[in-house]
Amino acid sequence: MDDQQSTYGLIGNPVAHSFSPAMLNTAFEALEVDAVYKLFPLKDNELDGFFQSLKEVSSPIFGLNVTVPYKEKVIPFLDALSPFAEKAGAVNTIMIDDKRKLTGYNTDGPGFICHLAELGVSTADQRIAILGAGGASRAILTSLCLDIERPESIKIINRTPQKAVDLVADLGQRMNVDNVSTVTSVEDLNIELCDILINTTTVGMKPTDPLLINPKLLHSHMLVYDLIYNPAQTLLLQAAVHAGARSANGLGMLYYQAVLALQHWAEQEIDVGVKLLMRDKLEEVCYGKH
Ligand code: ATR
Repeated sequence: MDDQQSTYGLIGNPVAHSFSPAMLNTAFEALEVDAVYKLFPLKDNELDGFFQSLKEVSSPIFGLNVTVPYKEKVIPFLDALSPFAEKAGAVNTIMIDDKRKLTGYNTDGPGFICHLAELGVSTADQRIAILGAGGASRAILTSLCLDIERPESIKIINRTPQKAVDLVADLGQRMNVDNVSTVTSVEDLNIELCDILINTTTVGMKPTDPLLINPKLLHSHMLVYDLIYNPAQTLLLQAAVHAGARSANGLGMLYYQAVLALQHWAEQEIDVGVKLLMRDKLEEVCYGKH
């Protein structure tokens, strides 16, 4: 990172409720680098101009995170993609070098895998069910398909079935998806036989949201992972606890994707002490813990 004050930030729409500024500004302070992390709310028609301005040598911006709805849309603006981002077809991190060359990375999928590793969960030979086929599902599915710890099976269901079919077909052009299948009825997920259930949908954020699965099928030998971290325990995770299953929410994935993004910008591993500060800050801003 540069010695002069550099700017990093998040582009997306909306971005107002993001916890990334809290995490990344804590890291910059701890690393004693003169950098600031800002939010850049962008409308669709502002994307072009924003990326043009990034090319200017006077731009102070050296790194960006990308969130909904731009993770795929930013790709044409980039000069290079990491092999993983290229395979995923989605970018959540951009690094800009001194020559204003833009390189795209995806740390969402690897962030999920890092969190599973922290939980001591291997995906090797596991039977996995995924709810949802949006952007988060794309990143996770890519990671699961590229991981050497190959799951036995991955079943995906989505409210709009064709989107799940399209997602698997798209990824199948660049990786082996032989162990992936799409299903159209929730019974065909075979949750009772499943080792890991992952919710990537937005269902569960609101208190009135329904359960997408039959809670009676959850069991004590499985992990239920809900990407939603606010509320900390969705109805799905409550049902998991009730069934004696292991449960985890997506705060760990959020944390790891930020650490991995920072490591791309810094081009080095981040000190464990700094990482702990980032995690404490994230828990504090999200759940009010100190
Ligand atoms: P993200 O980047 O968080 O994955 P997204 O790409 O907008 O966000 O994907 C949202 C996911 O939640 C999709 O799988 C979406 O299903 P559709 O593809 O049918 O839209 C799913 N989702 C949102 N609301 C839902 C609901 N009420 N019931 C079931 N699935 C829902």
